[in-house]
Amino acid sequence: MIEARGCDMIRRWVASEATAFPAGPAWLPDRRKPERDHPMQITFQPTHPGTLSVDALIVPIVGGRDGAAPSSPLLGELDGQLDGVLAGLLSDARFTGASGRPLVVATLGRLPARRLILTGIGEGDSDESLRLGYAAAASAAREAGAVSIAIALPDGHATPSAATAAIEASCLALYRFTTYYGTAHKGPDAADPETITVADPALDPTAGQAALDLAAAIVTGTTLARDLVNEPANVLDPGAMAVRAAQVAEASGLEYIEIGVTQLAELGAGAILAVGRGSRSEPRLIHLIYRPPEGIASGRRIGLVGKTITFDTGGYSIKTGEGMLDMKIDMAGGAAVLGTMSALTAIGCPHEVHGVICAAENMISGDAFRPGDVLTAMNGVTIEILSTDAEGRLVLADGLVYTSRQGVEEMIDLATLTGAAVVALGNTTAAVFSSDDALWGRIDAAGQATGEDLWRMPLTPSMNEQIRGDVADIKNTGGRPGGAISAALLLERFREGLPWAHLDIAGPAYTKSAKGYLPRGATGFGVRTLLSYLSAPTD
Ligand code: BES
Ligand code: MN
Ligand code: ZN
Repeated sequence: MIEARGCDMIRRWVASEATAFPAGPAWLPDRRKPERDHPMQITFQPTHPGTLSVDALIVPIVGGRDGAAPSSPLLGELDGQLDGVLAGLLSDARFTGASGRPLVVATLGRLPARRLILTGIGEGDSDESLRLGYAAAASAAREAGAVSIAIALPDGHATPSAATAAIEASCLALYRFTTYYGTAHKGPDAADPETITVADPALDPTAGQAALDLAAAIVTGTTLARDLVNEPANVLDPGAMAVRAAQVAEASGLEYIEIGVTQLAELGAGAILAVGRGSRSEPRLIHLIYRPPEGIASGRRIGLVGKTITFDTGGYSIKTGEGMLDMKIDMAGGAAVLGTMSALTAIGCPHEVHGVICAAENMISGDAFRPGDVLTAMNGVTIEILSTDAEGRLVLADGLVYTSRQGVEEMIDLATLTGAAVVALGNTTAAVFSSDDALWGRIDAAGQATGEDLWRMPLTPSMNEQIRGDVADIKNTGGRPGGAISAALLLERFREGLPWAHLDIAGPAYTKSAKGYLPRGATGFGVRTLLSYLSAPTD
């Protein structure tokens, strides 16, 4: 009797604690800042950049060919005002104009700008070399303490796309995740710039401002994705992701639909339900819809599907401590989808876009799924679990079937799906699989335009043998050989006959060290490619 009462008390205590401390991050202090401390003001001015009184003026310089000293009309003009010291400084510094090594020069009161930041843009003929040059210069400007920055465009190339590249790269390079810096943290050394002005008399002001607005939309979407990925898993669980997505939908005028566990069960979405069953925060499909204004509508409907495992322990096929260290980033696919969706209104996307985020946390509990379990996905395909750590393909299976039923004509999914993709292509290139050459061609073009590296991989048909099920239709792993391919082949079973592409972003989703316009941590990979893809007219 005594034992029974004790047991009952414990149970009641557990129950009351559960009410006092509801699942999820609600009881954690919310330290998120509603806005960045100093939202950067980005403006275009149709004036000569040399006339602006700013802390730093960024001057792009095309590399000199065949060893000749790099030069440009603007550089010559500024050099004249500085009595020719620039030429000497450039040669002393062996400045070649290669992108990535800016030279900071104090103007000692001789120019309205306090400093010049000379930055090489290589041959100046690609947007990516512009981005790398401006990114390095913006970082140098912040390090020099500049609060106001002016940007000159390349001489003779003062195009809207150059203006977009300059602002996109500068802002992306200046990103940092400081949400959890408390009083005990020494904090970043330099404050963020407050104003960035692109100045060029040759560029039409309306076109100039439109180019900056486009850059701002791209930056906002990428920054959102980075913030979500950088957010720790104790704060960003599936429930919190849904809250963020709903906020984004509201702010960007998108429709918001959440498919919770009850509805998932009704739909027969047994795969995502199984993956999420071990977590206090329930799995869900988060569905956002962008509908273009009538005047610009193309009539096309596109589905984007993202893996959002807010933390991947591996489940009972548990990862090593080291292996799960970075696994808060396992939601980068869904973060890229949400970042993209957030910018569609601003970029004037002509297509109807359905963004579906497959959110779950892969945890261990008395209720979690096991190796050997057999699941039934939403389209009736049965899956035998060989490893609970191959969970991404499971949540995507239901996500793809759900999306295919929204009337879309093609689907693109993004997922930090396999370590094998990282082994194959490294840390900066996404592995792309597609059932459709034309779809791949368009994605390839979008990737090249934005500087996100993509490489097409084969959906080797004979390898379907590796995922043939013993007790069910398929099994959820195909062994080590070609692990990224067998994962993609599993996803292919759920494309429901639609043209489909899969981006395995396990490598490029985050970076351990800063490079170019990618600071350490989350990169926001995929947002820029998708925005480019979705703004290009398709036939
Ligand atoms: N989230 C991981 C993949 C991953 C690995 C992403 C490294 C980012 C960096 C995924 O869920 C996973 O665990 N994949 C397994 C699959 C295996 C069990 C078939 C892997 O890659 O080892
Ligand atoms: Mn896993
Ligand atoms: Zn995973």
